[in-house]
Amino acid sequence: MGVKLVNITKIFSDPAHPEKKVHAVNNANIEVADGEFVTFLGPSGCGKTTTLRIISGFENPTEGEVWISGKMVNDQPPNRRDTSMVFQSYAIFPHLSVGQNIGFGLELKERPKKEIKQEVEKIMKVMDLKDLVNRRPDQLSGGQQQRVALARAIINRPGVLLFDEPLSNLDAKLRDQMRLEIRRIQQTFGITSIYVTHDQSEAMTVSDRIVVMNEGNIMQTGTPFEIYSRPANNFVADFIGRVNFFEGTAVLSDKEGIEVRFAGGAVKKIASSSGEIMDGGPVLVTVRPESLRLYHSQERKGFIDGKISKSVYLGPVVEYEIDTGSGKPVLAVTHNPVEEGFFKLGEKVTADFNPVSAHVLA
Ligand SMILES: Nc1ncnc2c1ncn2[C@@H]1O[C@H](COP(=O)(O)OP(=O)(O)O)[C@@H](O)[C@H]1O
Ligand SMILES: [Mg+2]
Repeated sequence: MGVKLVNITKIFSDPAHPEKKVHAVNNANIEVADGEFVTFLGPSGCGKTTTLRIISGFENPTEGEVWISGKMVNDQPPNRRDTSMVFQSYAIFPHLSVGQNIGFGLELKERPKKEIKQEVEKIMKVMDLKDLVNRRPDQLSGGQQQRVALARAIINRPGVLLFDEPLSNLDAKLRDQMRLEIRRIQQTFGITSIYVTHDQSEAMTVSDRIVVMNEGNIMQTGTPFEIYSRPANNFVADFIGRVNFFEGTAVLSDKEGIEVRFAGGAVKKIASSSGEIMDGGPVLVTVRPESLRLYHSQERKGFIDGKISKSVYLGPVVEYEIDTGSGKPVLAVTHNPVEEGFFKLGEKVTADFNPVSAHVLA
């Protein structure tokens, strides 16, 4: 079931200060295809929850239209919209067993007992809960409780599943596991899903596409790859993971890309870019830390020179900061340090990158 937001704006006014207006959402246009998993990602207060509540009908937009499955639903109350919300706090009933919790929605619809039992069994099997049917919620782990909440939302076969930071109460390891679980279950049932999080790696794991928001505005909509490797602007580049910005001048652009002359004099031709880039104009080139290659400085003349000013060993990778004398350290990550070796604190290094992993911003 597809969802479409057309020019959605939400302005709140603070009851204590009616003259103060909060533009929670500004003219948002979002289209979610049937069966697609789309995530709203952005810092706290950027309007994610408000947008989700406008879809569910718990909030009315100040302007704009909400379409679900080809129908304009602005006038429909939440219970007529065929959406189901999975919350962060496990809104499961403490006095009911797991089975009763999961079957609750079907009980409400007065489905035959036999059908409810079958449906509950089926869903518990898919969700790996089947031995827990008679347990009470307080006898479950956090991850199991979250799965019960998800099963309870899914059993009604809603057209659209809405998630508002459902994993933020769980510890890191369980969160990683549940992400994959949510994605697997969403794909098993093919339910259109809209997910809210401020955690970029969570968004990357579960989503077909990500909508990056900031201060009520949509900054970019794209696949995880596009958002990370081909960011539309500085905000997206900086918010999603870590990044180096190198200043330069666009010397010449043609079909194959943009020739950029960097402050240090190096010239590289980079195929990927966002925004309108003018020959002779200033540009910012983004390079992710893992795309920078580090060399012991006597080995070669690189793109930049500097000294290792920080080194953090994380096991599979080592994170380095390189002081180039320009103020802001350059970030680099090396993989498989046991085989590829370490760089010492204070050591002189050079760094370079392959143009294919860089992206030019106007
Ligand atoms: N009921 C409300 N009344 C007034 N302001 C609100 C209300 N709900 C949200 N806001 C404001 O709208 C902005 C967006 O909030 P929200 O959608 O909850 O952000 P997010 O979920 O991205 O953290 C924030 O500035 C928040 O304070
Ligand atoms: Mg929120």
